[in-house]
Amino acid sequence: MKRYSHITGWGMVVPERILTNEEITQTVDTTDEWIRTRTGVQERRIAAEDETTASLASGAALKALTMAGIKPSQVDMIIVSTSSPEHTFPSTASIVQDEIGAIKAGAFDLSAACTGFIYALDMVSHAITSGSIDIALVIGAETLSKIVNWKDRNTCILFGDGAGAFVLQALDKPGGFISSVLRSDGSGADLLTLPAGGSKLPASEQTVRDGLHYIHMQGREVFRFATRVMAKATLETVEKGGLTLDDISLIIPHQANQRIIESAAKKLKLPMDKFFVNLDKYGNTSTASIPIATCEAVEADALQPGDMIVFVGFGGGLTWGSALIQWSGPQLEVKPIRTGWYQFWAGIRSFLLKILRRIEGLLSGLGE
Ligand SMILES: CC(C)(COP(=O)(O)OP(=O)(O)OC[C@H]1O[C@@H](n2cnc3c(N)ncnc32)[C@H](O)[C@@H]1OP(=O)(O)O)[C@@H](O)C(=O)NCCC(=O)NCCS
Repeated sequence: MKRYSHITGWGMVVPERILTNEEITQTVDTTDEWIRTRTGVQERRIAAEDETTASLASGAALKALTMAGIKPSQVDMIIVSTSSPEHTFPSTASIVQDEIGAIKAGAFDLSAACTGFIYALDMVSHAITSGSIDIALVIGAETLSKIVNWKDRNTCILFGDGAGAFVLQALDKPGGFISSVLRSDGSGADLLTLPAGGSKLPASEQTVRDGLHYIHMQGREVFRFATRVMAKATLETVEKGGLTLDDISLIIPHQANQRIIESAAKKLKLPMDKFFVNLDKYGNTSTASIPIATCEAVEADALQPGDMIVFVGFGGGLTWGSALIQWSGPQLEVKPIRTGWYQFWAGIRSFLLKILRRIEGLLSGLGE
């Protein structure tokens, strides 16, 4: 049988705390009007102290699994795309795998900044169509508020926290993932970066004093790059999939800046209502922005089964990419599952495994 990679479940989680532009004006020299007119952002969500990239990712994953009617134990692969991982290692994906009880899944993080979700969609879709796996979770998750310098008005106004997840599944009916374009230009690596904490510049008192553990961005250059690549990448993936722009019902772009999306619309000669935009509510949630926007597009009835849609994004790296998808919609035969129970048992299982490892260590120590 020919295999197709379908999106059969989707879910999002954003923190409850809303930070308005007005509140930001209390801490940096800016205005609500400046932020709205230059970016389109009105408010963003900020993670609580006990909310992390993994906890948001797990919440979104469980919602997507519930919708798809898939048990965590059926998942073969988990990819978490993030620029604000739980740790440098272990991967955030491994923590999610444990938290949701995906006992047979492989798990790894993918680093391609805001384009990461599209890279991950491409990776799992090819693994699914080749027969290597049947069911995957692709998650975009960020707690950027924890790595933003709240005294830097060039960056702190832009970003927000949140997570979105898709379940991708092998089905024999045509549709789902059709084509993609993935690109990188590392000569622009310094335009958007978190300079310290890696092997080039290990964390030290000095790097903290210099604020090198925060996001650094050259906004104007990133803006120019984004407007250059968005329209081109959209066209490339549509042509690669054998379609034309007339066949496309909706474009779900990375939600970075209203003006960047307007510029892409102009270049493609498309009206703005072909683009789904919700960055006014969440700001730029990096790699989480496309799955979050997709969840809200479904809620808003902007997506129907059979629709041809394009995801297109850009970000640090520099990276950019796009994917052409035939939207599958919910599968009618699916029976909802109660993922809350799975999370409960996953917690107990993880606790017992830790105790077992400790006993094993004690016993082997006694035996030596
Ligand atoms: C950041 C961004 C909104 C700035 O808008 P802009 O119109 O390009 O503004 P500029 O960078 O040209 O700065 C214009 C002036 O506004 C100032 N400014 C910057 N941030 C400001 C703020 N929050 N409030 C008020 N003034 C601000 C700048 O200091 C500059 O002042 P100067 O001319 O005296 O130096 C815009 O460049 C952008 O969106 N870039 C892309 C960023 C992005 O998407 N990053 C994520 C990629 S995934």
